[in-house]
Amino acid sequence: MIVPSTALRGKQLVLGVTGSIACYKAIAVASHLTQLGVIVHTVLTDNAARFVTPLAFQAVTGQPAYAGAALWGQEAHILHTRLARQAELLAIAPATAHTLARLAQGQADNLLLVTALASDRPLLLAPAMDGGMWEHPATQANVSVLRRRGAVLLGPDDGRLASGQTGPGRLAAPEAIVGRIRALLGQAGSLTQAKVVVTAGGTREPLDAVRHIANRSSGKQGAALAQAARDRGADVTLVSTVPVAPETGNATLRVDTAREMREAVRVACRQADVLIMAAAVADFRPAAAHARKLKKADGPPALSLAPNPDILHEISAGSVRDGRPRVVVGFAAETHDGPTHARQKLRAKNLDLVVVNDVGRSDIGFGSEHNAAHILDRQGGIEELPRMPKFALAERILERVARLLAERSL
Ligand code: PMT
Repeated sequence: MIVPSTALRGKQLVLGVTGSIACYKAIAVASHLTQLGVIVHTVLTDNAARFVTPLAFQAVTGQPAYAGAALWGQEAHILHTRLARQAELLAIAPATAHTLARLAQGQADNLLLVTALASDRPLLLAPAMDGGMWEHPATQANVSVLRRRGAVLLGPDDGRLASGQTGPGRLAAPEAIVGRIRALLGQAGSLTQAKVVVTAGGTREPLDAVRHIANRSSGKQGAALAQAARDRGADVTLVSTVPVAPETGNATLRVDTAREMREAVRVACRQADVLIMAAAVADFRPAAAHARKLKKADGPPALSLAPNPDILHEISAGSVRDGRPRVVVGFAAETHDGPTHARQKLRAKNLDLVVVNDVGRSDIGFGSEHNAAHILDRQGGIEELPRMPKFALAERILERVARLLAERSL
């Protein structure tokens, strides 16, 4: 489910597409960005237009898509400068060896290259070519020149290539390209320069070599918060018990148990401005984790539990001078009397905001694509957020966080 991003809505991008078999993946990138609310102007080279048509891009973006002939069309004298001026970012995906070489040399003999030359905006390049072409010293030298000039390179990935060989040269995954474009478009947003730590997923507490005690958290709410923070320019560290899409955070730390999460959060919080604990952390763990698999024939084991550290309380108890992030947000998973229990948690854990959600409902909360919540603050305020996609809810939380951070920076 792609949910529009309020931080990215209306931002403009030139998507350059050059002649590689991977061109068809650029249509998925253009479609995804359009659904997020980004205005995508596509410029194809003539060789790209042999693989895919401008019409395909026009259909998914709702914007005119240009190929080589437009360089000499009605708008010829201003098209490249208009596109270069309107767009906040130029992304070329796929970028062939030929286009990388011409960009490095500053050549300007097609619409995409003149637009690139006219642009002073960030340039993202996602190369795609055969492995030998990528590793060739000429291509590597061109890439070095472009990097030195500030271009951001994404990929290529390793894998099966059109030639049937395996190696470096595959276009980065469309989700990774979208993720990097989001981060670049969002970099001047309301959380620019803020270091944000987000936790996601449920911890798993081992019982023996193959079994653990877990909970139903899918990590979706945490991942949505990380993405919404990144769309606003934050430097995001996501501490997660579940795999997350590439580029959701600037860094992702995978953990399993509460104690592993505690260590990762402590390290990440040394430099952090904001901590948002959306993870469902087990309050207790089996007191002893058996190194070998318990045998069914031995009968049900007696389960003795030990308390886990309260990560949020430990981090939030101190003062900002002691290293507490300036804004700390907790979640409260409740099945009844949510706001009352949440207010107690806000006080007991010294939180700035607590987001309480009803985990007894099947249409929101654990595992769902949607959530509904109340946000409680220190002043006694309570904001109701009706059922909405988890990403939309994350955006509402991040708006509150950005406001608090701005107040505390004055
Ligand atoms: O992951 P999803 O499927 O998307 O579902 C999202 C969610 C329902 C898990 C999420 O919205 C949510 O409610 N997360 C908090 C779950 C929880 O552990 O709530 P709690 O009320 O038990 O804990 C209160 C706060 O203390 C939480 O921020 C929790 O992360 C933190 N905590 C709890 C225990 C502990 N030992 N250490 C902690 O830091």
